[in-house]
Amino acid sequence: MKGIELTPALHPTIFVIFGITGDLAGRKLLPALLGLYAKKMLPSRFAVIGFSRRTFNREEFRELIRSRLNIQPGQFKEEDVKHFLDHISYEQGMFDNANAYEQLANKLKKIDAEWGQCSNKLFHLSVPPNLYQGILNRLAQSKLTIPCADQSGWTRILIEKPFGNNIEIARALDKLLGSLFKEKQIFRIDHYLAKEALQNIVAFRFTNSIFEPLWCRKYIEKIHIKLFEREGVEGRGAFYDSLGALKDVGQNHLLQMLSLVTMERPLSFVGDDIRYERARVLARLSKMKFRTIDKMFVKGQYRGYSSENGVSRDSQTETYIRVKTSIRNARWKNVPIYLESGKSMGETKTAIDIYFKNNPPAGGAADGGKSGQNILTFRIQPNEGIKIKFFVKVPGYEWKSEPRTLKFNYNDNPSLSLIVLNDYERLIHDAFAGDQTLFASTDEIMASWRFVTSILENWGKLPLVIYEKGAREVG
Ligand code: BG6
Repeated sequence: MKGIELTPALHPTIFVIFGITGDLAGRKLLPALLGLYAKKMLPSRFAVIGFSRRTFNREEFRELIRSRLNIQPGQFKEEDVKHFLDHISYEQGMFDNANAYEQLANKLKKIDAEWGQCSNKLFHLSVPPNLYQGILNRLAQSKLTIPCADQSGWTRILIEKPFGNNIEIARALDKLLGSLFKEKQIFRIDHYLAKEALQNIVAFRFTNSIFEPLWCRKYIEKIHIKLFEREGVEGRGAFYDSLGALKDVGQNHLLQMLSLVTMERPLSFVGDDIRYERARVLARLSKMKFRTIDKMFVKGQYRGYSSENGVSRDSQTETYIRVKTSIRNARWKNVPIYLESGKSMGETKTAIDIYFKNNPPAGGAADGGKSGQNILTFRIQPNEGIKIKFFVKVPGYEWKSEPRTLKFNYNDNPSLSLIVLNDYERLIHDAFAGDQTLFASTDEIMASWRFVTSILENWGKLPLVIYEKGAREVG
């Protein structure tokens, strides 16, 4: 096996994936690791160890991983793929079997002995959240949570969303993590934070003095955050059915988008300063009340969902949510904020629309309407970019105004779109580097659970609206 020497500064690292045969590892983690490998951004000495329940021989495992990588023609050099696969090995074991963790610990020691170094260890929990606590306890019992040296050779844990299935589990999980690791070792993933177009919101807001002063209740009428997907549950029926849209994307992705659009200016744009401001604004979200929830919340399910594989036939799980909320602080008081997400919608589109207060169009609107409303759109994906709707005079003798658009689109500039990192590549890179800026803090997680819990506690009386696949709106 030949290592690549382009990031020699990086210390040897072993990346252990619990649940390597699962959907997330196949769709996100392994392709991201291969992407980083091909860009020569992994340490020259690294190993990936997959840990899972199923039994494979070496060749079967290699073939499984290759097929999971879903490589498109011309995407990677075959030589890179081959060498990357040489770095991956498999450890079969049940997640609750102490011996399996002993074997894993021995394997890690053996690799360290071969390399003649105490390597970094990164454990990634790519399993359903109900398995987190068991795995963490076993890791602790087999002393895998303890770094092998004081100086070099750290141990870190990467933990996926949803962080627990409710607020009590999230609290217990946090307590357990806190008892086993120091905060700087814990990387709580919300891959939306790592999307380039989301980070761009922060740069855009706090750099452009033509917008920054307008970013408040005096000038903004409402904010609408949308995460629509054309796909349904796509082979994740059982997992999704235990969560629903509110926990799958509401508690995390939608609220993280909201936090970046509404937070105050952080002291700096890295690490705890930015995490602090994200958490602070999430804590000011207005909680849902029983009395008014029917005006503030809609839940829906696409027709045919309950016949999907793994989904209970009488499932009441929501695949669509629309939430109306606001933020209790001086900047945002009474500004409606809509959070909306659905599976099997008419389009795949994640975007944030900022509606500025309506200004009557000078001379009247060319279409006879009354709106002179500026709308700023952060397009998160696909077609990442920023768009501003503004008004100009209709050329000619008359005094009328009509809307035009100013746009910035990453895809218009091929050199930019090449630089834009895939979100999981960014996360893995930052976890290697020990940078927690794009990972959620305990305070953020708990603040978002408090908000989501206020919905869960009060939504019992709401009907589940059935919508057609391909719908553009619901309810
Ligand atoms: C995941 C959810 O966290 O995010 C999925 O579990 C969802 O249900 C996905 O499809 C959306 O992520 P992306 O990056 O594809 O927009």
